[in-house]
Amino acid sequence: MTGPLVLGVETSCDETAVAVVDGLEVRSSVLSSQVDEHARFGGVVPEVAARAHVEAIRSLTHRALAEAGVHHLDLDAVAATQGPGLAGALVVGFSFARAMAWSLGKPFLGIDHMEGHLFAPRLEHPGYTPPVVVLLASGGHSQVVHVTDWGEYDVMGRTIDDAAGEAFDKLARFLGLGYPGGPAIDEASEGGDPNAIDFPRALADRPFDLSFSGLKTAVVTRLTKAAESDELPPLADVAASIQEAIVDVLVDKTFNAVDETGATAVAGGGGVLANRRLRARLEDEARTRGIDVYLPSPELCTDNGAMIAAAASFRLGRGEATAWNSEIDASMKLGA
Ligand code: KG4
Ligand code: ZN
Repeated sequence: MTGPLVLGVETSCDETAVAVVDGLEVRSSVLSSQVDEHARFGGVVPEVAARAHVEAIRSLTHRALAEAGVHHLDLDAVAATQGPGLAGALVVGFSFARAMAWSLGKPFLGIDHMEGHLFAPRLEHPGYTPPVVVLLASGGHSQVVHVTDWGEYDVMGRTIDDAAGEAFDKLARFLGLGYPGGPAIDEASEGGDPNAIDFPRALADRPFDLSFSGLKTAVVTRLTKAAESDELPPLADVAASIQEAIVDVLVDKTFNAVDETGATAVAGGGGVLANRRLRARLEDEARTRGIDVYLPSPELCTDNGAMIAAAASFRLGRGEATAWNSEIDASMKLGA
């Protein structure tokens, strides 16, 4: 054992996820996805999510411990996402994990979900250390963060409207590709021409901030017109062009931050980092510049318990613990 042995619980949105992490080694990571339950509504329904977390959390925790071969009495700490996310969903995992820690007489750590995403690359890349520029892009957040030291976050840019994942989700819904939209567009773009349609790239005058709502309007306007004149381009071209517009903005802003800070490494976290085109473009650009790039494998990009345990492990190492009377914070902000 490299220790500490931490159980991480994540229930901020539509996945109930639990993992056991030993130091930086993932001993188990299990999740119960609610995608099917939400798909028929075209997006996440908060009440449905909260109830599904309640139903799944206990058995998932048993599974995570069993798969890790760990007895709950051997845990050094229990952690859960404290925010940001859906309040009704967050409170399930947070209360469950806090009660578990309390009954075990072990520290409890409430973790910022985005700090979790930021720690995910550590689970697979020993070389991932600050200073580093990290692109965080999920369904609810998109930000470019300069990590000057673990726990020290300079959020250089963020979206001024939709998050990147939200743009994927909304546009996939418009195209009739279903929910979640990111994987659907990723798949539909296969074989498509990313330069087929020149969709706008917003906020060229602001080096680090992002914006995606203009893209959404442009796609809807262009395709509605094309449909009216019976000139709809092939779906693969549409998907590839939308994806390219989002990826271009994410890559540009990330490397603008690299230029500004002189960082010699970039990393990423959040569901959108599972996107194959984004990963390839970040890797290419890093290679061209001769800097390091640390991307989690796709299942550690999307929500999981291991990233929460990894961030908790760091905070525990600094002697931190979350007060027993703390509450969830649905609008928690990284670096605030
Ligand atoms: O981090 P995450 O799992 O949950 C949140 O914290 O929101 O991110 C979910 C987001 C969704 O918007 C989903 O469409 C997007 O990540 N996503 C992707 C891909 N896989 C998931 N976006 C683009 N390409 C993908 N392959
Ligand atoms: Zn997330």
